Amino acid sequence: MDKFRIKGGKALRGTVAISGAKNSALPAMAAALLTAEPVALHNVPKVRDLITMAKLLACMSATVSVTDLPSSDYVIEAKTLNHAVAPYELVKTMRASILTLGPAVARAGVAHVSLPGGCAIGARPVDLHLKALEQMGAEIATEHGYIEARARRGRLKGAHIVFERITVTGTENILMAATLAEGETILENAAREPEVTDLVALLRKMGAQIEGDGTSTLRIRGVEKLHGAEHTVIPDRIEAGTFLVAGAITGGDLTIKNCAPEHLGAVIAKLEQAGVPMETVNKTTLRVRGAKKLVGSYMTTEEFPGFATDMQAQYMALATQAEGTSAITETIFENRYLHASEMVRMGANISVDGRKAVVRGPARLSGTTVQASDLRASAGLVLAGLVASGETIIERVYHIDRGYEGIVEKLRAVGADIERVHAPSEYAA
Ligand code: UD1
Repeated sequence: MDKFRIKGGKALRGTVAISGAKNSALPAMAAALLTAEPVALHNVPKVRDLITMAKLLACMSATVSVTDLPSSDYVIEAKTLNHAVAPYELVKTMRASILTLGPAVARAGVAHVSLPGGCAIGARPVDLHLKALEQMGAEIATEHGYIEARARRGRLKGAHIVFERITVTGTENILMAATLAEGETILENAAREPEVTDLVALLRKMGAQIEGDGTSTLRIRGVEKLHGAEHTVIPDRIEAGTFLVAGAITGGDLTIKNCAPEHLGAVIAKLEQAGVPMETVNKTTLRVRGAKKLVGSYMTTEEFPGFATDMQAQYMALATQAEGTSAITETIFENRYLHASEMVRMGANISVDGRKAVVRGPARLSGTTVQASDLRASAGLVLAGLVASGETIIERVYHIDRGYEGIVEKLRAVGADIERVHAPSEYAA
């Protein structure tokens, strides 16, 4: 298993280009199952989760071709969809595999997707996805660890669905399913994340009839067939936010290009509140500099447009360097503070009580060996390593490879002392 070795204390300076959003590319790839014609996607980041999704689509009899110029361009063609089975071996490595269920059952009338199982950041059930599909006339059975969804009379029916709580992939799954259902579907309490809006944009290019994107009520009028399309994935707002914190926490001066500042409102506001000088250079570029003095503040994770839970670990790394008390409340996932105990091992003063964490700073962090527990926790630990004295070793970085394109190369290019260590195979577990 690979590790990262970081020697902290370097101020990051220069320009970083942001890649396409993993969480937009995932549903966009799944959407290709809705049509027999090719769907071409540009700006797909080169990260492990998208390779997993490509393999998954191939298992479901789609042809996936990837061109490497200069960011990844994917062409997905699902001419037939006879064996819509998403196997456990792939699903267990990526919960977002559930995104294939909605489009597959809508197109083929039946689909089998392995149950995702638990993951490090809480139970993360898919009950809301399944309940909504049932409302659309799907018969759902779970047997031998697989979900079988079968549309009565072969086609899903439109329905009025009110999500009990906001779910991002749940909204995306049902949105995709509804595009080919008979009649109208109304989704209330839908997620408003930019990745949902990006999916709507792609589906519209494919011929779907959707209204209400960007709001919490989506109306979809089902059509008989969708066609091929070409689409460029939006920039990754979490990667951009991570680099903003990297610039701020190291006392550097970073220009973040190819990003979408309008998707980063809550992060920018919180960084400014902490005393970080921020500048919107133009519509796709932000500049961040180190604060003269970082100050502690409160932060609550929320659905978009609130502060993203996927930025919570990174914010916590920043909070360890801020003067005074930072109170963090995690409202989206239970058990999403696994990085806190690792930061404490590096010298941070953090106490966690259920969904609340209190960080007292500034703390002098010192490097040690820490374990990454999930994708965003790993990013938080990298940030902590960038300011820690001495050497930080981060183990289990396969988590970060799931979602950050070339993070080592990008950080090195702006002056970080970080390298990937390919560990001998006896450490593999
Ligand atoms: C997506 C993102 C993930 C992000 C999360 C919240 C992708 C691929 N992943 O995950 O990076 O952290 O949104 O912004 O886009 N829930 C249920 N039942 C369900 C579905 C969800 O109880 O059927 C709960 C979850 O356990 C969680 C909350 O709802 O507590 C929100 O989860 P959800 O928005 O569904 O997260 P994901 O779509 O899995």
